[in-house]
Amino acid sequence: MKTILVTGGLGYIGSHTVVELLQNNFHVIIVDDMSNSEKFILDNIEKVAGKRPVFFPFDLKRKELLYQVFEAYEIDGCINFAAFKAVGESQEKPLDYYENNLFSLINILQEFKARNISNFIFSSSCTVYGQADQQPIDENTPLKMPESSYGKTKQMGEEILKDFATAYKKKVSLLRYFNPIGSHPTALLGELPIGVPNNLVPYVTQTASGIREKLSIWGNDYDTPDGTAVRDYVYVVDLAKAHVKALQKLMAENSDTVIDIYNLGTGKGSSVLEVVESFERANEVKVPYQICERRAGDITIAYANADKAERELGWKAETSLDEALRTTWEWQKYLESRK
Ligand code: UFG
Repeated sequence: MKTILVTGGLGYIGSHTVVELLQNNFHVIIVDDMSNSEKFILDNIEKVAGKRPVFFPFDLKRKELLYQVFEAYEIDGCINFAAFKAVGESQEKPLDYYENNLFSLINILQEFKARNISNFIFSSSCTVYGQADQQPIDENTPLKMPESSYGKTKQMGEEILKDFATAYKKKVSLLRYFNPIGSHPTALLGELPIGVPNNLVPYVTQTASGIREKLSIWGNDYDTPDGTAVRDYVYVVDLAKAHVKALQKLMAENSDTVIDIYNLGTGKGSSVLEVVESFERANEVKVPYQICERRAGDITIAYANADKAERELGWKAETSLDEALRTTWEWQKYLESRK
């Protein structure tokens, strides 16, 4: 059985991926500092997967603690989710973002180098493309330096990993997520936004449940069919499955050095209004909204060409927007039932 270190394994995409790894017979070790998660997620992972992963609550910047984990377990690979991810906050606290997202990454890579471990999967983002000149966005689309410090940590993380793979003959996979949404079909795992959500789907969900009065739609004067911005919303369980496939591919590679890059999206763009309509249709609830000014830094449109992931990983996003948004609503009801 292979042992995989999953950093940020109690987080949103991390927890769903841990379940998929356990269901595919990997031994999982989670390191998560709980800065954006809660302990009940660990219990729920066990309920869903029927197995409890090993869990260490600490900050990956604590090199001495990380060293002890690598001493105690024979680790075969890592999926690195641990990172700060709030775009707006990163503009106010850029040093915190660079320090947290990049030092923790480098600390793990130092252990990989010292112990001759390969197989590293990095959570990247479509933010590395900025506003692309053409849609859909494939992996050869030129990168643009993102505006936010958060986005810059993703682009820098990719560069660090490319150098790491080349210099030390390692296998790495850079997964560029489009917009992850939805919750586990059991309603036991999902996103836990802290405070007022920045992202669209958590805000829509909280508005439908009455926690927020009204959704603000940031702009309806974009050059898109209905004037609202377009994104590629990909279901989190589909996304989690892609990680297992990317890992299995790396492990099966014969060559020493591998740098895989995949866009993970559905290939379909949906506007903000389409997301609202889909949520209302899927869950038979109303989402009151108002149209507001554009949000600073927002791009007009981004959706993926994910053919490479289908060709090389045998992965394809399978879940519809309606279905994904149904799971989100079930998760919201679950969270309210816990209060
Ligand atoms: N939106 C609203 N109202 C809201 C929240 C969002 O109208 O209350 C709109 C945004 O303006 C945007 C769309 O919904 O047009 C999606 O917004 P999100 O904040 O959910 O997602 P973004 O595409 O802005 O950001 C996402 C990830 C980032 C990543 C970025 C890359 O959250 O981590 O994609 O483009 F950097």
